Amino acid sequence: MGPMDTEYFRPDLAHVHEQAFGFHADNCVGGILDLLAPVRDRGGLVVEIGCGTGLLTRHLVGAGHRVLATDGSPAMLDIARAAVPDAELRQLTLPDDPLPAADAIVGVGHVLNYLTDEDAVWRALSGLAVALRPGGVLAIDLCDLAWNTARRNTPTRGRVTRDWAMITEFVVPRPDRFAFQLAVFTRNEDGSWRRDDERHDLVLLDTAGVPAILRQLGIEATIGDSFGSEQLPPGLVTLVGTRPDP
Ligand SMILES: C[S@@+](CC[C@H](N)C(=O)[O-])C[C@H]1O[C@@H](n2cnc3c(N)ncnc32)[C@H](O)[C@@H]1O
Repeated sequence: MGPMDTEYFRPDLAHVHEQAFGFHADNCVGGILDLLAPVRDRGGLVVEIGCGTGLLTRHLVGAGHRVLATDGSPAMLDIARAAVPDAELRQLTLPDDPLPAADAIVGVGHVLNYLTDEDAVWRALSGLAVALRPGGVLAIDLCDLAWNTARRNTPTRGRVTRDWAMITEFVVPRPDRFAFQLAVFTRNEDGSWRRDDERHDLVLLDTAGVPAILRQLGIEATIGDSFGSEQLPPGLVTLVGTRPDP
């Protein structure tokens, strides 16, 4: 077990994520499918990083892609396994678990920003670059330093349903870090409630510098403000690129 098995996205939060956080993948999927069309036409393998409960995965599989969906959290993968039985799923923790060779690498929900520091992000990006085959497509989202500018003084948020409730506090410990402090309440079968707390620390990136790093690894990529025509939250950018055919 790596550290992320116990720290991030444990079962109660995984359940809430599946129920309440599909909007981001739904928003991004149109643009991502357009970018992936050539990969589907040649029957290529799409590797998804940080697939979570499979909220993007189900769209990829539904569109006819061959998908290997990966995540570091066993609880998220358990839900994905039930929700998307046609996807191959694998526990894979970035930055050090190697990715299999891929014709496309995709991921939404700022997966790389969950890593511990910039060094770990660069290691993960280099792993992605190594795994991407010639002609392959890279499409992920990343939190830029601007994420914090847009969220200074964001008030605490709460959501209550019959079976769960979640309170989210937003913490800005320094300009290049952001954290969600989550209190997750889940109704037990006997009607009582249990509580689980998670803190998700994000490392924010000067994303403008990422294409130059990837170029040294043979990937031509650009930072953008959408995968297609969707509107992303402030401070969230796209990294879209390819490994050109030799
Ligand atoms: C905000 S969620 C997004 C999940 C999914 N992509 C979606 O859009 O619903 C971030 C995901 O990244 C995964 N993750 C965080 N750190 C990771 C790491 N070091 N290696 C692999 N996955 C990680 C989490 O387990 C979680 O499923």
